[in-house]
Amino acid sequence: MKNSIRKRLFITYGVAIVFGFAVLALSLLRIFDQYFIENRKELLYEQGRKVAKEAATVLYLGSPDSRSLIKDLQVLDRFLNAHIWVVNSDGIIVAVSGTNEERLLGRQVREEKLRNLAKGESIEERGNFDGMLDESSLTVGYPVFVNNRFSGGVLVHASLYEIQENFKGIYRLTLWAILISVAIAYGILYIQIRRISNPLKEISGAAKVIAGGEFHKRLSINTGDEIEELGKSFNNMAESLEKIEENRRNLIANISHDLRSPMTSIRGFIEGILDGTIPEDKREHYLNIVLDESNRLIKITNDLLELGSMQQGSLDIKKEVFELNETIRRKLVAYEKGISSKRLDVVFSMFEEKTFVLSDQVLIERVLSNLMDNAVKFTPERGSIEIRTSAKEGVIIVEITNTGEPISSEELNRVWERFHKRDASRGIYKGGYGLGLAIVREIISQLDERIWVSSGEDYVKFTFTIGKA
Ligand SMILES: Nc1ncnc2c1ncn2[C@@H]1O[C@H](COP(=O)(O)OP(=O)(O)O)[C@@H](O)[C@H]1O
Ligand SMILES: [Mg+2]
Repeated sequence: MKNSIRKRLFITYGVAIVFGFAVLALSLLRIFDQYFIENRKELLYEQGRKVAKEAATVLYLGSPDSRSLIKDLQVLDRFLNAHIWVVNSDGIIVAVSGTNEERLLGRQVREEKLRNLAKGESIEERGNFDGMLDESSLTVGYPVFVNNRFSGGVLVHASLYEIQENFKGIYRLTLWAILISVAIAYGILYIQIRRISNPLKEISGAAKVIAGGEFHKRLSINTGDEIEELGKSFNNMAESLEKIEENRRNLIANISHDLRSPMTSIRGFIEGILDGTIPEDKREHYLNIVLDESNRLIKITNDLLELGSMQQGSLDIKKEVFELNETIRRKLVAYEKGISSKRLDVVFSMFEEKTFVLSDQVLIERVLSNLMDNAVKFTPERGSIEIRTSAKEGVIIVEITNTGEPISSEELNRVWERFHKRDASRGIYKGGYGLGLAIVREIISQLDERIWVSSGEDYVKFTFTIGKA
C-alpha cells in the first residue's frame, strides 16, 4: 500500500516529535550556555573589581612598582583560569598576569574600547580581542578611576572553549536524555499506530473474505474504542449477510421444489394422453388437472413477482376513506362456498354499525382475503371462525380467530417467512405455497400498520390495525 495510514501517521507524528524535541534541545543548550557564561562573567567581574582597586594605586603612581600587583594577577590567573591585563588611560597594557603574555606589554588596545571604560562603563565581549588573543575568549573590562579621574582599566579574558569544555558533560547528558525521550516517544507512537492500523487491516481482510462469498468470517477486536465498535458493526453486518444468503439459498430450493412437482405431474399427464396410456374417456378429467396445476403455477409465479416488487418498494398506495364492515361482509360472501362445504360456524361481531377507516381499500382486501383463506383452510370441519372489530387509541383493530390445531410458539415467528407452510407430513398441508402471510406482512408494513399472531390451546388468532378515518 503506497499511502498506508500507518506510514502517514508515522511520518506526521514522527516529524512533530523530532521537531518538538529539536526545539527543546536547542533552547536547553542556549539556556545552559547563557547560564554558564553569565555565571562566569560575574565571577570575572568580581575579581576584576578587586584587581581594579590594587591597580588603581599602581596606575596612580605612574610607572609602577608592580611586582606585588603582578603576583596577585598571577594568583588570580591560576584561580580563575583567565588572563588579566591592566591598561592605563591611554590604553597601553602596563601589566599582564602570565609570562607568555609579556610580549603584549606596551601594546595599545583599541580606542573605542577605551572610550567605554573612560565613561565609567564596564565592557564585555566575545572573540579574540582584535587579534590580540590566541583563542576565542570571553572578555570583561572594568574601569579604574582615581580621584574621579579615569586612569585605566582591568581586562580579564577567559577562554570560551574552556568554559564550554567544563559543561560538555551536562550538554552530553541533556542530549542523551533528549535522544532517549525521542526513542521512547517513537516506540509509543509505533505501538499506538499499530493498535489503529492492525485492526483496520484485519477488517479490510475480513471484508475481502466476505466479498468473496464466505459469510461466516467474524472479527474479534478488543481495543475498547471506536475501532472495536466498528468491528462489532462489521460482525453484525456479516451476520445479516449470512442470514440473507441462507434465505436466498432456501428460497431457491423452495421455489425449485414447489415448481417441480406441478410440472412433473403436468408432464406425466400430457405424456399419458399422448402415448395413449390414459384412455380417451379419462382425458378430459386429466386435462382439467393439468389446467389446475398450470393455474397454480401461474399463481405462485404471480405471488412471487408481486412479493418481489412489493419488497423493492414499488407498491403504490392510495389511501382513502372507506367503510370496513361492508368490505368484510363482501369477503365473507366470497368464501361462502368453502365455509358451507366445511360446515363452519362464522360470527362477525362489529363494535359499531359503520366503521370508517383511512387506508388503501384494495390492499386491505388482499390482507383480508389471505387471512380468510387461511382461516377457512386451516379450520377443521364444523369448526368456527370469528371476526371481531374494535377501536383503540386512534386505530381500528381487526381480529380473525379460528378454531383448530394451535401453532407452536417457536413456529409463530416463522409463519411470516416466504415458503413457510405447515409440515405436509402432518396431513394439514393444503397445497398452499407459504407466500400468503409474507405478502400480508409486506402490505401491512408498507401501510405503516401492525399485525401479529397468537395461538392458544385450540385457536389461532391474527390481529391487525387499520387507521381510523
Ligand atoms: N388461520 C391459521 N390457522 C392455522 N395455521 C395457520 C393459519 N394461517 C396460517 N397458518 C400457518 O402459517 C403457514 C403460512 O401461511 P401462508 O403464508 O398463508 O401460506 P399457505 O396458506 O400457502 O400455507 C401455513 O402453512 C400454516 O401453517
Ligand atoms: Mg395462505
